[in-house]
Amino acid sequence: MAQILPVGISHYPPLSGLDADMANILRGRLADPDIPAQAKDPAQWPAAMQAEWADPRAAAAAHRSAMRVGLRRVRAAIDAFKPDFVLVCGDDQYENFHEDIVPPFSILAYDDMQVYPWKHAGASSMFDANTQDEWGGGRPNAWGERGDASRWIRGHRDGAKHLASGLLQADFDIAYAYRPLHHPGLAHAFLNAVLYLDYDRQGFDWPVVAMPVNCYGRQLVSYRGFISPWADRGRPADPPSPSPRRCFDLGAAMAKVLRDSPWRVAVLASSSWSHAFLVDKTYRLQPDVASDRRLYQALVEGEHGYWRNRSLAQIEDAGQQEVLNWFVLAGLVSALDAKLEWSEFVETWIFNSSKVAAVYRPV
Ligand SMILES: [Fe+2]
Repeated sequence: MAQILPVGISHYPPLSGLDADMANILRGRLADPDIPAQAKDPAQWPAAMQAEWADPRAAAAAHRSAMRVGLRRVRAAIDAFKPDFVLVCGDDQYENFHEDIVPPFSILAYDDMQVYPWKHAGASSMFDANTQDEWGGGRPNAWGERGDASRWIRGHRDGAKHLASGLLQADFDIAYAYRPLHHPGLAHAFLNAVLYLDYDRQGFDWPVVAMPVNCYGRQLVSYRGFISPWADRGRPADPPSPSPRRCFDLGAAMAKVLRDSPWRVAVLASSSWSHAFLVDKTYRLQPDVASDRRLYQALVEGEHGYWRNRSLAQIEDAGQQEVLNWFVLAGLVSALDAKLEWSEFVETWIFNSSKVAAVYRPV
């Protein structure tokens, strides 16, 4: 009988790297000559940010440990649930989708796929051209895996096709694909979800279906869905991402389609919350922790209306573009009336984004 397990984690790329490098996004912003010196002055920062910055290496170790608690909880919930497949809602940061097509939402109905997490890292956001010879053409990573390391990620084409068919029959226009377009494997929101849920490297044999959400919207092609120098702001914007409400309603429609399916499905939101490098009001130095805290409170208290009524302008102002993945989960949870079993908010100011992990009771 069909059953659904809603869960959420972060796919924060620096977690796969070394502690010494974890604050490099902030370091890059601090090196931007066009960001005012006053904004860069630690004395002007919130006390919690100053405390982390006093010893970034120790703060990185603590941040990693805190994230691993959530990853372990979510992995245990998935293993106990024994899903037929894991449906991952994640962003594509100019990885598989480029100038030739950018679907608001799509379902990747791939077969089993061999991926090279480190050799292909150059095709993903954050990892441009930094492959290194001493890592066998890969990049430094927390597991000491070399460039030729590969793993298989199982697909579930029938489940993906069923979901696409059901959404279309429910008047929810959705794109689908049977093979990658530009990225040689899976974009990092999906790949990192697998790598992080398998942090202890025991293997991850659950089939995965990726569902990209165009979270970066106005900044997807223009900014390659990533960081840019402060002086480059104001590039001509692209059309927007789907609205938070549309993401929420997609999740609600998915709940019905999946409940009417023959499968047990874990639905995973994959992303950190407010990203410092997207928050112009802090010169891209600080995430919008206050907005995250309020949104998290609404998640914990089951305030579905608060989520559904967020505007895209509010999301962009708070640098919460990637949280649109969680809006899909929120809509699904609302439609299922699923109850939150466990969650955590891992706050940070210097590691780009706070991280949320969540486990709901299966419905
Ligand atoms: Fe991302």
